[in-house]
Amino acid sequence: MTKQELLQTARETLEANWRAPGFSVPSGRLYPFQWNWDSGFTSIGNAHINPQRALREMETLFTGQWANGMVPHIIFHSEKETTYFPNFDFWDTTVNAGAPQRPKTSGITQPAVHGFVLEHLLNTFPDDAATIATVKALFPRVVNSHRFLYIYRDPEREGLMFMYHPWETGRDNSPLWDASMDRIVIDKGTLPAYTRQDTKIAAADERPTADQYDRYVHQLELGKRNGYDGPGIFAESEILIQDTLMNALLIKSNASLIRIGQRFGFDVGELEEWQQQSTRAFQQKLWHEELQTFVPYDVRAGAQIAEREIGSFTALSAGIASDKQAKILNDYLQSLHDRGFYLCPSFDPDSPHFDSRRYWRGPIWPHMNWLIHDGLKNYGFGKMAEVVRNDAIHLIREFGFYEYFDCQKNTAPDLTQGYGGDQFSWTAACLIDLIET
Ligand code: GLC
Repeated sequence: MTKQELLQTARETLEANWRAPGFSVPSGRLYPFQWNWDSGFTSIGNAHINPQRALREMETLFTGQWANGMVPHIIFHSEKETTYFPNFDFWDTTVNAGAPQRPKTSGITQPAVHGFVLEHLLNTFPDDAATIATVKALFPRVVNSHRFLYIYRDPEREGLMFMYHPWETGRDNSPLWDASMDRIVIDKGTLPAYTRQDTKIAAADERPTADQYDRYVHQLELGKRNGYDGPGIFAESEILIQDTLMNALLIKSNASLIRIGQRFGFDVGELEEWQQQSTRAFQQKLWHEELQTFVPYDVRAGAQIAEREIGSFTALSAGIASDKQAKILNDYLQSLHDRGFYLCPSFDPDSPHFDSRRYWRGPIWPHMNWLIHDGLKNYGFGKMAEVVRNDAIHLIREFGFYEYFDCQKNTAPDLTQGYGGDQFSWTAACLIDLIET
C-alpha cells in the first residue's frame, strides 16, 4: 500500500465510523457507542480531513458530562443498540441525580485527554473562528472535569487521582491491576447475572478472561451502590490505584488548559495550583528507583506496583520526567528495538505476565505510539521517536486498521492481520496525524 492509499483507507475508516448526533464509534461492531478518550484521539486525526467533525466530536462527548464534572467513559447515544455489555441499563446511572437523563452514559471515567486535544485543535487552526468558539465554550467544562478528579478522586489532597475500575485507565486488563483484582472475593450469589458480548465478536484469547470479567462487574456494582461518586468507593474498594497514565495525561491536559486560559484571559489560578501539586507528587511517588521507570501506586496495599509497562512513557508526553529519567526511558525503548521488538509493547516482554495476543498484556496500541512519539520528540529523542512512528505505520500497513498488534517481529511472518476490532477509529486517526505531521 502506498502512503496515499494508506491515508485514503484511514479517511474511509473515519467516514464509515461517523454517527449521529456527531461522534465516531471506535469500531462499528465491537464498540457501537462513543468512548471518551477514543474521541480525543479521533478528533486529532479528523482535524486533518474534516475539522468541523473534530470539533463536533468533542462537543458531543461533553453532552454526556455529569453535574459533578465527570466525563463518562461511554456515552450511549443509541438506546436501541443492544449488542454491547454492559449497556446503559446495567450501569443504571439514575443512582446519581447529576447524571444526564439523555444521553445515557456509563458511571466511570477515562483518561483526561480533552485539554490537550483542544490545544492541539487550536494550534492547528489558531485563527479559525469556529475552533476558537468551541474551545472557549468547552474550556470551563474541561476544567470542571479535572475538578471532579481532584475532588472525588483525591480525597487526601495529594495531587494524584485514584481509579477504582480498570476500565477507567484505558488499559483494561493490564497485569498492573492483577494483584488488586485478586484481592476481590467474588460472591457468585450476589453478582448479578450477565452475558458478555465481546467474545462473540473478537477471539476469546485476545480478550480478558471470565474471572477478570466477574471482577469488572463487581467493581461496577460497587460504584453503583455508591452513586458512582460517594466516599464509599474510597472506603470499600479493593482496587484503588494512582495510575501513571491517568495522572500523566491529567497533568498534560492541565498544562494545555493553562496555556489556553492565558491566551483567552481566563482565570488559571486553580489549574496552576493543581498542576504544581500533581507534578511534584507524580515525581515523588511514582518513580521506581530499582526499576528506573514510573509505576502506578496501589493505595490499598500502600506500595508501588513494580512492573515495567507502557503507562510510564506517558510521563514524557506530559513533560514530567527529568532529562535523566527521559534518557533512561529512551534507552529502554532502544534496547527493546535492538532486541527485535516492534515498539511499543504495552507490557514488559520479559515479565511472566506478558502475553503477546491478549489486549493490554503485551500488544501494541497505535494511540499509545502517538503519545510516546510526542513525548520522545519533546525531549529531543528524534531517532527513537521516528522508530515509534514508523513501527505504528508499518504495522497498520502490513496488518490492517486493527485495534492492536503483536509486538514480536519473529511471530509476524505467520500473522496476516492485527488483533481485536477492525476498522478502528483511533488507529486511523493516529495514523493520519503520524503521517501528516
Ligand atoms: C477498550 C480499551 C479502551 C478503549 C475502548 C474503546 O476497552 O481498553 O482503552 O477506550 O476499548 O476503544
